[in-house]
Amino acid sequence: MVRLNRIFKGLPGEVLAKVEYFNPGNSTKDRMALRMIEDAERDGRLKPGGTIIEGTSGNTGMGLALTAIAKGYRCIFTMADKQSQEKINILKAVGAEVIVCPTNVEPEDPRSYYSVARKLNKEIPNSIYPNQYDNPSNAAAHYAATGPEIWKQTEGRITHYVATVGTGGSMCGTSRYLKEQNKNIFSLGIDTYGSVFKKYKETGIFDKNEIYPYLTEGFGEDILPQNVDFDSIDLFLKVTDKDGAIMARRLSKEEGMFVGWSSGSAVHGALEYAREHMKQGDVMVILLPDHGTRYLNKVYNDQWMKDHGFLEERVYGTARDIINSRGGQDRLVTVTSNEPLESAILVLNREGIDQLPVVDGAEFVGTVSTAGLLEKVIQNPEARKLPVREVMDKPMQFVAVDSTLDVLSSMLGKNNKAVLVRDERDRVHIVTQHDVLQALAKQ
Ligand SMILES: Cc1ncc(COP(=O)(O)O)c(C=O)c1O
Repeated sequence: MVRLNRIFKGLPGEVLAKVEYFNPGNSTKDRMALRMIEDAERDGRLKPGGTIIEGTSGNTGMGLALTAIAKGYRCIFTMADKQSQEKINILKAVGAEVIVCPTNVEPEDPRSYYSVARKLNKEIPNSIYPNQYDNPSNAAAHYAATGPEIWKQTEGRITHYVATVGTGGSMCGTSRYLKEQNKNIFSLGIDTYGSVFKKYKETGIFDKNEIYPYLTEGFGEDILPQNVDFDSIDLFLKVTDKDGAIMARRLSKEEGMFVGWSSGSAVHGALEYAREHMKQGDVMVILLPDHGTRYLNKVYNDQWMKDHGFLEERVYGTARDIINSRGGQDRLVTVTSNEPLESAILVLNREGIDQLPVVDGAEFVGTVSTAGLLEKVIQNPEARKLPVREVMDKPMQFVAVDSTLDVLSSMLGKNNKAVLVRDERDRVHIVTQHDVLQALAKQ
């Protein structure tokens, strides 16, 4: 546990970091990896000479690989291709076999790293798939160790616990223990833009429209892992890729803590919360999951940071820049779902645009495009009178205002010509493929 001296300076209360890179595999995942293996040994799921297969963003793999070396098991890991090359190399260095899978496919897709891990587990005899997402040993490890350590190290003074939420183990196991000691301890979960957690906590809705590609590694999910116990998290805050990256660099330079990207996200979210809510006498503990070496080619590479619009030199890097370039003049044109097709066609013509979001009150429920509507009306002229609701396509996806041009271009294609962006003042803007191409041309 290390006190943060500079970043929170001037705010009331005390802020401590639980620095998890001191574990032998340099991350918080060592704790649950050991526990998942030992629980499997105890109940007979894992036998001598067995194979451990896991879908991992790297750190769990490291914990499993180190444990496997000590205990004589073979390891095969599946990883999403957005993970840093360093993480892949590190796992190979400790004897694991690594299979890299595409990031931008649905979890149920047979190519996803979840599906590939499951398939290998079926095919390889005497193998186990610990499945860190749903394996109760994950949160149990943090309940048994991280929680009690924090309680002891703060001598029971902790008032706020902050952690990023991926599988949920490090947030929920720890929080459950802490809340059992003092039910008033407040747990702040850090989520990413592009993940389902915050909306699910606030509304109970698993909204697929919340899911889109993001760059930060290790937390935020497009599934609801069983290790996420929403009752043990009081509030979620979302942090952008950029804010997390910049804060990781600040932690290294200003606090002497060379930490990973998600540590930056945790501290950024904690700072946002602390500015509004911390009081004298409060003790906040922030879990910093891993070490900076795993991000040398990303967050700690100036050129990579510039290329992603994360360092200020770049003038035209994000959705926000596209919106700002409109000088505050843009106004989102929409059609309501009960209007007839002919009104939508009139609006598209009048505005000289190719696609239109369909709304029902404040909700975005669909999309219509010039090409789609014309096709319908040419096939059946009577369709002009049909309500838009009956022919609309799925709604455009929302993306974070700090989404970089590469994230935007990966989302825009043949079937997806525009995305929506909500700014800090809750105004919604549209960003089209054409906008992104223009922005790229200006670089
Ligand atoms: C770098 C990093 N940060 C944060 C997390 C999230 O931790 P948890 O899975 O315990 O929710 C992980 C988990 O993979 C991680 O690797």
